[in-house]
Order: sequence, then structure tokens, then C-alpha cells
Amino acid sequence: TFISHNYRGGYHFSPKEHWMNDPNGMVYFQGEYHLFYQHHPFGNTWGPMHWGHAVSRDLVVWEELPIALAPDEFGTIFSGSAVVDWNNTTGFFGGEPGLVAIFTQHAEGPEGEAPVQRQSLAYSTDAGRTWTKYAGNPVLSHDTFVDFRDPKVFWHEASSQWVMIVACGQTVCLYRSPNLIDWTLSSEFGEGIGSHDGVWECPDLFPLQVDGDPGLTKWVMLVSIGDHPELAEGSRTQYFTGDFDGERFTPDAVSQTRVRWIDYGRDNYAGVSWSDVPAEDGRRLFVGWMSNWKYANQTPTGVWRGAMTVPRELKLELRQGSAELIQQPARELEGYRKELLSLKRVTAAQASAQLADLQLESGEIRIRLGSGQSLELKVRAGRGQETVIGYSGAAGEVYIDRTRAGTADFHPLFAGRHAAVLDAADGTVELRILIDRSSVEVFAGGGRAVLTDLIYPDQASTGLSLKADDEEALVESLDIY
Ligand code: FRU
Repeated sequence: TFISHNYRGGYHFSPKEHWMNDPNGMVYFQGEYHLFYQHHPFGNTWGPMHWGHAVSRDLVVWEELPIALAPDEFGTIFSGSAVVDWNNTTGFFGGEPGLVAIFTQHAEGPEGEAPVQRQSLAYSTDAGRTWTKYAGNPVLSHDTFVDFRDPKVFWHEASSQWVMIVACGQTVCLYRSPNLIDWTLSSEFGEGIGSHDGVWECPDLFPLQVDGDPGLTKWVMLVSIGDHPELAEGSRTQYFTGDFDGERFTPDAVSQTRVRWIDYGRDNYAGVSWSDVPAEDGRRLFVGWMSNWKYANQTPTGVWRGAMTVPRELKLELRQGSAELIQQPARELEGYRKELLSLKRVTAAQASAQLADLQLESGEIRIRLGSGQSLELKVRAGRGQETVIGYSGAAGEVYIDRTRAGTADFHPLFAGRHAAVLDAADGTVELRILIDRSSVEVFAGGGRAVLTDLIYPDQASTGLSLKADDEEALVESLDIY
């Protein structure tokens, strides 16, 4: 079969070649955003894991660097994090700050026995270009759990110590350390709460101000859950909000009663946040793996397989008494816009007429309309293909329908329609849609409802169209870049 290479995103990170899954070790240091990733450098499907590496100065343009971490006698290199050790707590750095990576090593057990997962360290004194594994690896093991992985580490200012959140069996374990080397168990979280439809993986824990109020901080915990063979959703990421005292996470009431997902599309998994973004910037930046274990090994992309979502900023917003996570594309992307169309206060019929002659393979669409309206926007359309992005005021939902988006025969559960609830009490609704050669990301209602879906249309399918239930309905604005 002919495999097109044209699916490579114009502004989404993918490795030059071979397999990629989870983002790892994201850290900002000396003007660079580092992105490491689960990588199999000798094949296009999941295999012995290495850490691939890329850097960017603006979260948009990435330079791929040599592989940072390769397997050794303690196993392959699974997911994990990286931090700046500003005060040489590890003793690895003399007087200068340096980078420390904390990651899982996965070793196959002897014949008939379970594999072993332990946490190890590596450090870099040259801004991430070369890495030395710590001579005392592994630094943390577990007696009972086979699944013990994906350590995310941060400096907890209030208690002046390092904190690690790591998946352990069907929960997460919290550890503390003065030096990243010696770890003490603080607590465990997750029994009887949240979704356990798949194995718990890739946790993260960080504080955010609610509505930007410095007097009201909540902690957000991300927990990804692995694929469930019987659930169409496959792998996905849930979040909890609550309080954290350096040892224990106490969930909010809402987290005890309701499972909340960070994304209602199918392709945003194992995402975590950047470490050490400067305080004067203050953003909590996130990136996810834009795929799903359900079909990740079968996507039709040729020499490379696996891409990241766009980097996103996470915030908390108070809605009906609970803190809800919102996501927006990192603002740096706006610097690369070139305007294709800009309409103000037109009817749906007028807007639709303007779209008829446009072609868009890769770009952004922003549309604002009254919250009582319903409309469907078709993108990457042509030759019987279309990706539908819809908003229904009556149903109060936003959706992506990729049933006819393009190649989908690689997995029976790929085609389909995915929806998110969008309560639009404030009178207007804005959809911000990022389209690329093999993806659609929808940020609706200021990032309150987010859907991320892969699509595989023909390269020539670049048509656009718009259809509203009421052709006379007012479109407040429509901008295409
Ligand atoms: C999540 C995950 C992690 C693990 C890694 C292995 O997608 O299963 O739990 O560390 O992928 O590649």
C-alpha cells in the first residue's frame, strides 16, 4: 500500500523518523524548552524505550537533538521528568545549576517472572546536550507493585523538599526527598476515587491560582489511564483538584463525585507539564502525546509515528462552585499566523459564501456566535472526505466527527464522533480550531471544552464549508489564519 508522508504536522512536533509516545522530562532552562519523549529509534512501533530529545526557544519551532538516554543493565528508559537543581541538592553540579532527569527503568524479569520497574537518575552539566547516569541507580524501588513508573518531580517551596508523584499499581504514591537520591514515602492517593478503567500512569501534580487570584491556589493532579480493551475511548487523562501540604493530596468535593477528563477527543494522552518555567512568566505549560494506545501502533504515517499536541497553557476557572481546568494553545503560536480571512458580524449564509473559495491544509479558525445557535464547520474536505466540527446550542455540546475524515481502516474504532459538554451561559460561544495535516484540536468556550483528534485526510482535501441551522443567524466573527 502507498503510505503518504504528507501527514507530518506543519506545527506539531514529531520525530524525524521512527516511533514516539509520551512526552517526558519537559523542563525550561537557559532560554530553552526541552522536550524529551518515549522513543524507539530502530522501529515504527513501540519497542525498547529510549528518551528522544528536542529543544525550542518558543514552543513552536523544534530542533531534534541526539538521543538523551538509552537502555542499560537496569532496563529500558520509560517515562519520567526533569528538573533544574538550582542549589546543587544532589551534589552533582559544584556551584552551577544543572539538569536532573528522573525516570523509570523497566527490566524484563527472569523467565516466568514479572518485569521490574524502578526509578533512576541522570544529570547534565551542559544544558541537556549530554547525560550521565547516576552511579547509585536505581534510587527507588517498590516491593509489591509491578506497575511502578512515570515519576514527576518538583520542588515544594513550602516544605523545602523535592516531591515525587509516581504511578504505583492502581494509585499514585507521593514521596519526598532532600536531594533527589533518598526518597521517603509520604502518602498514597487514588483508591476508590476517579476512573480506574485502565492502569494508572503518567501522573502530574502542580498548583494553579483559581481565576488568577493569588489568594486562592488549588492543586491539580493529572492521572492518565491506559487502554481498556472493552472501552472505545481507549487511553485518556483525568484530573483531580484539591489541596496539597507537601505530603498528602486532599481532593475537592467535585473530585470525589465526578470523573473529569482533560480532553474529550481521543488523542491526548500521557501529557504532563513543564518544570521550571520562570516565575515572571508564571504559566503552567502542558503537552500531550497526540495518539491513543487503542491504535497508536497502526496509524498510517510512514517513516515516523507519533506527534505531540500543541503546547498548551493550563488554568483553573471557578464555575458553579468548583475549580475547572481550562486549556488554551500556548500564545507563541499566534506569532506564526498569517491572516486568510477576517469577517465581523455577518450572517451564517454570508460566512459560508466566503469560505467556498478557500483552501486550508494547516491553520487556525476562530468563530464566535450566539450560544443558542447550532452550526457545523467542515474542514479538510474534498473527494468525499470531511472532518466536521460542530456546536449545538440546543444540546449544549461541541463535537468532532471524523467518521469520513480520511483513512480510518487501520482500526475499527478509529472512525467516529466525539462530543464534549459546553455550557455557554454567557451568550456567545467561541470555537478555536487548530487544523494540521493529521490533526484537529478544538478549544471551545475559552478552553473549557477541549477535543483533540487525529485525522488522515488526503493532502488534496483542503476545502472548507459552514452550515448553520438558521442561515440568517449572526456570526459575530470568523477569522482564519
Ligand atoms: C504511557 C506509558 C507509561 C510508560 C511508557 C512506556 O503511555 O505506558 O506508563 O512509562 O508509556 O513507553
